Amino acid sequence: MKKPPIRPRLGVNVDHVATIRQARHTKYPDPIAAAIAAESAGADQITVHLREDRRHIQDRDLRILRETVQTRLNLEMAATAEMAEIARAVRPDMVTLVPERREEQTTEGGLDVVGQEAALAAYVEELRPFGGEISLFIDPRADQLAASARIGVEAVELHTGDYCADRRAFSTIAEYDAFVDTQFDKLKYAAKAADTMGLKVAAGHGLDTKNVLRVAAIREIVEFNIGHSIVARALFIGFEAAVREMIDALESGRRRFLEG
Ligand code: PXP
Repeated sequence: MKKPPIRPRLGVNVDHVATIRQARHTKYPDPIAAAIAAESAGADQITVHLREDRRHIQDRDLRILRETVQTRLNLEMAATAEMAEIARAVRPDMVTLVPERREEQTTEGGLDVVGQEAALAAYVEELRPFGGEISLFIDPRADQLAASARIGVEAVELHTGDYCADRRAFSTIAEYDAFVDTQFDKLKYAAKAADTMGLKVAAGHGLDTKNVLRVAAIREIVEFNIGHSIVARALFIGFEAAVREMIDALESGRRRFLEG
């Protein structure tokens, strides 16, 4: 029998290193340097979101990352004609399609694959020549999973944003705990269903070293893409140490599963 991996893979999202740089339009801090540090600390993948408004990662960053990343490069992007051209030119190892709204602070909610199935299927076909893996960022819902499987993508990334809800939005701890438990169950069932459909399962958004423990124990989730909390922690302990801390959390979360 195949042994389960010790931990899920970690994709480190370096967008917010570029956010700090763009705040002053300086040359530093450099997301390329962050990617190199992340890989030397054990990251399995580097993830970037090239947004339509270029608020953090720039086209130049993406081109240089393609040359320097030694592990895998995961490009998160909106399903637009401009981005399809960029994916074809840059050839990332994986493209993750995400919804994008200009006014949003960060990606809010997953793609509506059900509502846009035909258009997304055509877009995925258009992307095929770039040769990499294609993933859809979706909410943990059975209908979105089924539509993703019908389109024939290799992977889905489950949106963990609701599971990572802010405690301050709830009037009592009991209310908050009940909400988080419900969101956790949705992730667990969606991961199992996706795995049964033959989809590779990733997850991400809003995760930190504490809330990741429980989801890292979901065996079917083989990859996490995590950015903001790692960059924030890196301010205090350095980038490599922050990545190692997250890898340790993924390991201890997964061990909980192995120990039942
Ligand atoms: N995965 C996807 C698809 C995302 O859009 C983002 C945010 O860019 C992340 C993961 C990382 O989220 P966070 O920065 O909250 O860890």
